[in-house]
Amino acid sequence: MVFVEARNLPSHVGIIMDGNGRWAQTHGHDRSAGHREGSAAVRRIVRAARRLGLKALTLYAFSEQNWARPEQEVDALMGLLREFLLGERDEILGNGIRLNAIGNIGRLPALVRAVLEPLRRESEGNDSMTLTLALSYGGREEIAQAARELATRVKAGTLETDKITAEALHGLMPSLTVGDPDLVIRTGGERRISNFLLYGLAYAELHFSDTLWPEFGEEDLYEAIASYQARERRFGKVGKAAPQRVTAGGQVIRLAV
Ligand code: FPP
Repeated sequence: MVFVEARNLPSHVGIIMDGNGRWAQTHGHDRSAGHREGSAAVRRIVRAARRLGLKALTLYAFSEQNWARPEQEVDALMGLLREFLLGERDEILGNGIRLNAIGNIGRLPALVRAVLEPLRRESEGNDSMTLTLALSYGGREEIAQAARELATRVKAGTLETDKITAEALHGLMPSLTVGDPDLVIRTGGERRISNFLLYGLAYAELHFSDTLWPEFGEEDLYEAIASYQARERRFGKVGKAAPQRVTAGGQVIRLAV
């Protein structure tokens, strides 16, 4: 049993949902079956996150680079996405969830956009939790898009170059309208970021789980949050721990605070 403190919850959690393919392989299924099982895990975790009271959950569902996967797999993923949006519509609207999407949405098939856009609009005013699906998303691409926007403003004479600050760029990142991610979880055992929320990751806490995404459950989410809650976030400042001073003799003296 994992205990999570109700206070000190991360406000924005991002998840890199990895391991669908390996789950399918170990169960003797094709990769699409792994994604289907991954879809069920998405439903579970969205519900758990809402019950916990997270304000924002961003799921890396399809990267800009995933278009290079075999056509059959891409089609299966797009079909599952449509199915998810249709199937969860009532639950999303009924529970005050705002559904958002980031990434190159124009690149998605019309059949997906036809269910995504209305749900996005209908749920716009909801504020219990923002569920953001990163679709055809890339962190570098998002930064490049923001840079293009700033360049356009400079060219139009509406922005001075010395106003190109970290904050100005931040304000142009669709992934950060819900705030910087406090905690980013990656499932499936790999320890890398794979072009997810790059700009917002500056001070995020990272949690790597060996569990394959289709098997990731409520308890695993709690474990990640409990690990987050045990950490001291310093944002480049000094922490609460008593400062130490090392004497010439190498003996450490802990200073009273
Ligand atoms: C990575 O696992 C996962 C993806 C590229 C897709 C994630 C999609 C889902 C969880 C289901 C559909 C999404 C929604 C929102 C309904 P992988 O295929 O790279 O796994 P592997 O590393 O084991 O091969």
